[in-house]
Amino acid sequence: MTDSLPMRTDHCGALRPADIGRRVALCGWMARRREHGEHLAFVDLRDHTGIVQCVVDGSVDVRSEYVLRIVGTVRARPEGTENPNLPTGEVELGECEVEVLNTAAPPPFQLDERVEVDEMVRLAHRYVDLRTDRMQRNLRLRARVNAALRRAMDDQGFVEVETPMLIASTPEGARDFVVPSRLSPGEFYALPQSPQLFKQLCMVGGVDRYYQIARCLRDEDLRADRQFEFMQLDAEASFASQEDVLAFISVAVSAAVEAVTGEAVGDIPRMSWLEAQERFGSDKPDTRFGMELVELTELFAATGFNAFKAPCVKGIRVPGAGDTTRSRLDDLTDRAKRWGAKGLVWMRVKEGGELESPVAKFLSDEELRGLVDTTGAEAGDLLLLVADERHRVWHVLGLLRLELGRPPVTEGGLQFLWVVDFPLFEDLGDDGRPVPAHHPFTMPHPDDVALLDAADPAELLKVRSQSYDLVLNGWELGSGSVRIHRPEIQQRMFGLLGISEQEAQAKFGFLLDAFRFGAPPHAGFAFGIDRLVALLAGEENIREVIAFPKTQSGTDPLTHAPTPIDARHLEELGLRLLPTKKSD
Ligand code: AMO
Ligand code: AMP
Repeated sequence: MTDSLPMRTDHCGALRPADIGRRVALCGWMARRREHGEHLAFVDLRDHTGIVQCVVDGSVDVRSEYVLRIVGTVRARPEGTENPNLPTGEVELGECEVEVLNTAAPPPFQLDERVEVDEMVRLAHRYVDLRTDRMQRNLRLRARVNAALRRAMDDQGFVEVETPMLIASTPEGARDFVVPSRLSPGEFYALPQSPQLFKQLCMVGGVDRYYQIARCLRDEDLRADRQFEFMQLDAEASFASQEDVLAFISVAVSAAVEAVTGEAVGDIPRMSWLEAQERFGSDKPDTRFGMELVELTELFAATGFNAFKAPCVKGIRVPGAGDTTRSRLDDLTDRAKRWGAKGLVWMRVKEGGELESPVAKFLSDEELRGLVDTTGAEAGDLLLLVADERHRVWHVLGLLRLELGRPPVTEGGLQFLWVVDFPLFEDLGDDGRPVPAHHPFTMPHPDDVALLDAADPAELLKVRSQSYDLVLNGWELGSGSVRIHRPEIQQRMFGLLGISEQEAQAKFGFLLDAFRFGAPPHAGFAFGIDRLVALLAGEENIREVIAFPKTQSGTDPLTHAPTPIDARHLEELGLRLLPTKKSD
């Protein structure tokens, strides 16, 4: 540095006509170079704020992604050469002195928003990928969300408590990641699927209001909205009701949204679990679009068509989809079957309300007319109908609705929804045991506690719970519940789930014990920060808002994790590997 300026006086993307005449020092990466005759080159210098054009001596050896410090004078671009697409497009840097701070190997891909780069290549060189506008934007957005969440929870009197990563198992329904213990050979820690049990212990410990921006680990199949490790805003409050929790979380979520969009969320609407299922075929309805499920059971109560002789018949009307091709309809039928349906009836709505369908001949005129009336079908629409057990009809039509109507993630705004009044159990498992809709620490509805003693397991499915979900654009953002705080009810719940007294004592004895020492009533919630940030950033996949994510198959192409460990290390941990079939 021969000048007297600091290392950096300004950011590249921030220069404007008001800066004209200033001598500035910029630092960044060489984004692009265009030769202009032999002795002049235009160099675009990039930092996290954007790009500015620098006019430099063409003989300077600067290549893509070289790290540069450029000292120059801000000047107006010559008339006619302004670039309206660039925030700095009215100015450029002249009289430049270029200092190469570091050279760079040619980048593995072009860092240009318009160029689609294979994700494996991006992830293998994530440190280069992170330099793109998209990733810079997403990481900074995420940091703003985290900061806003912390502020909102602090302001509401919540105390941040860090809970351990090496624990005994927490049942959230996924598989645990485990860590072998060196000091206790043959024994393992589990990594937390959530801080659930520790935050409940904090309540017994008088923390009163706990929160944590918590890392959670679950060994489950990865999808667009699922990673092995992810972050939750996790919260729990003593002497708090469901209403209190909904209010705390609404404040936090609104603060995060406002920090990003500048707009408040407003009152979040509520819907019961049952209404969500009946109208949208989902417990996490995407309310950005209609195409609601239409009840048709009554209409076909006395039908002669065998396929519709079922406990429940419902349909959806797909506006303007009457020209769907036969092969696409066959494909939809196959999908419906894969999702558990026995079949799928389709009908094209013609002029005058006539219905064209292979099964129209099995239906009475009255049924056909009733269908058009009930669904509000108009010429050019497509009707899709499923008959089955009610839960299955919800499931299949709910998925078809998404398949046929779901807008892209960037459209339709942010539609938050509280889904409340979940049942305590979502279904009976193959073993005839009830499967908890949330987790085993959820309090049954006070009026339904007696039903827990019902002899008929089907009766158990009627037990309501005090649990609730927050949904955003059809994604489950978060879940919570009022908890069981009395050991005898918790014990009973374990019993219903087929967890024997010994097993409960072995796994959760510490919790049951804690409850004997004065557990306050408490309730809580956790939501997925990765999911919230992805939807705020307009991204379809949470990988795009995680600095160093795993691929769909759970690997990291950058560090090559997971990797084998050497024999000595295994020995030390008291482990011996079984031969495995290496899948490639
Ligand atoms: P739950 O298991 O519903 O509840 O998780 C809460 C939220 O965490 C997010 N989430 C995930 N995000 C990314 N990848 C994953 N694999 C993943 N799994 C879950 C979701 C989800 O809604 N302890 C309870 C909360 C409570 O009762 O207080 C719990 O963890 O957004
Ligand atoms: P089948 O009587 O099984 O030949 O079915 C006649 C038509 O009704 C086919 O188009 C099936 O896809 C459809 N179908 C059969 N069962 C059902 C059902 N439970 N719900 C909706 N459609 C069905």
